[in-house]
Amino acid sequence: MGAKLLWLCITSALVAYYIYSPIPENIEERWKLMLLSAVFRTLGHVGEAAEWLGLANYMDVMMLISTAEHVAPTSDENVTVTDTEFSGVAVRLYLPKKPTKGLRRAMVYFHGGGWCFGSTGMKAYDLLTRKTSNLLNAVVVSVDYRLAPKYHFPVQFEDVYSATKFFLQSSVLSQYGVDPERVCVAGDSAGGNLAAAVAQKLLQDSEVTAKLKAQALIYPALQALDLNLPSYQENGNMPILTKSLMVRFWSEYFTSDPSLREAMTSNRHVPAKWGHLFQFVNWSTLLPDKLKKGHVYSSPVFGSPALAKKYPGFLDPRAAPLLAADEQLQGLPHTYILTCQHDVLRDDGVMYATRLRAAGVPVTHDHAEDGFHGALTFVTSPGDMPVGHRLSSRYFQWLEEHL
Ligand SMILES: *[C@@H]1O[C@H](CO)[C@@H](O)[C@H](O)[C@H]1NC(C)=O
Ligand SMILES: *[C@@H]1O[C@H](CO)[C@@H](O)[C@H](O)[C@H]1NC(C)=O
Repeated sequence: MGAKLLWLCITSALVAYYIYSPIPENIEERWKLMLLSAVFRTLGHVGEAAEWLGLANYMDVMMLISTAEHVAPTSDENVTVTDTEFSGVAVRLYLPKKPTKGLRRAMVYFHGGGWCFGSTGMKAYDLLTRKTSNLLNAVVVSVDYRLAPKYHFPVQFEDVYSATKFFLQSSVLSQYGVDPERVCVAGDSAGGNLAAAVAQKLLQDSEVTAKLKAQALIYPALQALDLNLPSYQENGNMPILTKSLMVRFWSEYFTSDPSLREAMTSNRHVPAKWGHLFQFVNWSTLLPDKLKKGHVYSSPVFGSPALAKKYPGFLDPRAAPLLAADEQLQGLPHTYILTCQHDVLRDDGVMYATRLRAAGVPVTHDHAEDGFHGALTFVTSPGDMPVGHRLSSRYFQWLEEHL
């Protein structure tokens, strides 16, 4: 009896220790986030073990999340849902059933998942894009771009770009009854990265006549030059997206060669030759005082030129939209940026807002003091939390007013 009780106590303590993670005090219903975080951590540990044993790549294990959560394209009373292809790229299409007099607005959406996992059919994304289509009476094109580690940059970017460009043709827009003056791109996390990159590239593409009305970037990843920003320092161990997972995502976007990941972990992956790019991610000038507080800016530490030569992607604005020069930001459409206080990617979004405003682009920047990475997109399941509902209603309201 005594021994059983002892074991029970030890096991409960171990489970509690494993599930427990330090969640900021200002988040409501923190236990939900703690559970969600335990799920992610467990997968991470299984992934590391599987990789160490040579059974699978770490990302194959992360991919289980999207596979387990996958739903088939299912129409409902409001929206017709189909899987099809645009220019050879898989997309899930949401067409509103509600009759309209005029033309509809449209959104091209890119899901998150660190360029390595996620899909349009993942329950959380299917619900978000379905809701977008229904609430805004909009045609939504959700793009299933190809993923790392099987495919590396620029495949992900090129997939989303060709699908978007295909959709923006006037014949295609008119086929779906879309107003060419009311189309936006949007995405979360790695999808926000792709949306920002697509919006920049479209400005330079003389073959595209339709202009984007807006871009909505939900806690986007925008640069891999400085992986030691104040937000990385403060939130490196926050739930859902730790610094080490983000570094893994970034490096995996370019290559599975672990030497890039190692250099990025110590933030010494940029050679001196490319030092001028640091002006675009200089948090000392681009962050407001409130976020700089308690941090001391130090000049970048440069690494060997070999990595940048082999994997130049991390210096490319198509992978890191914050690296675009000021002239390339001019003329971007009205921008919505959501950043969360407890997120390693917070400062990417804040700095992009600063740079866009300086380039004359109208920006709406929502900053959630009680937000964490994934707060808006995981609003559905399993972490149905108050902060998610609040953020998603602000996001939809912005789209309602600006698209
Ligand atoms: C259809 O739209 C109505 C009105 O917006 C909403 O109340 C209902 O929940 C929607 N149905 C589905 C299946 O989403
Ligand atoms: C960043 O900004 C600070 C403050 O203005 C400046 O001293 C520093 O030289 C800048 N660093 C880079 C790499 O641009």
